[in-house]
Amino acid sequence: MSEPSSRVTKTIATMRGVRPTLLPSLLLCDFANLEREVRLLEEAGVECLHLDVMDGNFVPNLSYGMPIVAALRKVTDLMLDVHLMISDPNTYAPQFVDAGADLITFHIEALKQPSALLVELRSQGVAAGLAINPSTEMSLVSPFVGDCDLVLVMSVEAGFGGQAFNPIALSRLSELRKIYGADLLLEVDGGVNETTVGQCTANGADLLVVGSALFRQADYCQAMTRLRREMQN
Ligand code: DX5
Ligand code: ZN
Repeated sequence: MSEPSSRVTKTIATMRGVRPTLLPSLLLCDFANLEREVRLLEEAGVECLHLDVMDGNFVPNLSYGMPIVAALRKVTDLMLDVHLMISDPNTYAPQFVDAGADLITFHIEALKQPSALLVELRSQGVAAGLAINPSTEMSLVSPFVGDCDLVLVMSVEAGFGGQAFNPIALSRLSELRKIYGADLLLEVDGGVNETTVGQCTANGADLLVVGSALFRQADYCQAMTRLRREMQN
C-alpha cells in the first residue's frame, strides 16, 4: 500500500477511534435548511456525514455534487465521507478533494483498475475506499483491498434510499474482516435500520450509513439513541 499523507493517517485514526459509528446519509435531509440539519445531527452526536453523489448515469438517479460538499465544509468540522456513484470517478474525485472531503469512496463497477486513483486520493490527504454493489462478484474488488483505507459493502444496489437490506452484505463484511483484520475500515450502506444495524456490527461493520431510518423520524437525537442501542446489541 502507498504511504498515506499524515492527514489520511489522522482521518483513519479518528474513524477507528469512534467505530462502530452511524453516518447519516443526507440524501433525504431538508436541503432548504442544510445548516440547520447539520446542527441537529451534531447535537445528536454524529461524527461523520455520508454524502451520496449520483450522476444519473452510473445509477438511474441524480443527487448533488461538489457545491453541496463545499457548502457543508464551510459550516461543520464533522468528517465528510463522500460516496461517489458516478461513471467517471477519475475526472471528478479530485474535485471532491478540493471541496473538502475527508474520505472518498468510488465503485469498482465504475473503475475496474482503481489502484492509481486510490493512490492519488491518499496522496492528496483523503482516505480512499472502494464500494461494491450486492450483485457484483467480490473477486472484482479483492485484488485492490490492500490499496484501500476502507471498503464500502453495499447492502442495496446503489441509487436510491429506502430500499430493503440485502443480507449478502453480512457474509461479505465478516469475510472481509476475517481476511484483512481490524485495520481495514468496513462500511455498510443501504437499508440499515433498527432491525439490521445490530447484525451489521456483529459481522464487522465499523461505519454504518443511515438514511431513511433517521430522516423519516421527527427527532434525530431519539432516533440515533435507538439505533445506537440496537447497534451495540
Ligand atoms: C444508496 C445510498 C445510500 C442510501 C441510504 O444508493 O448510497 O446512502 O441513501 O439510505 P437508506 O438508509 O434509506 O437505505
Ligand atoms: Zn451511500
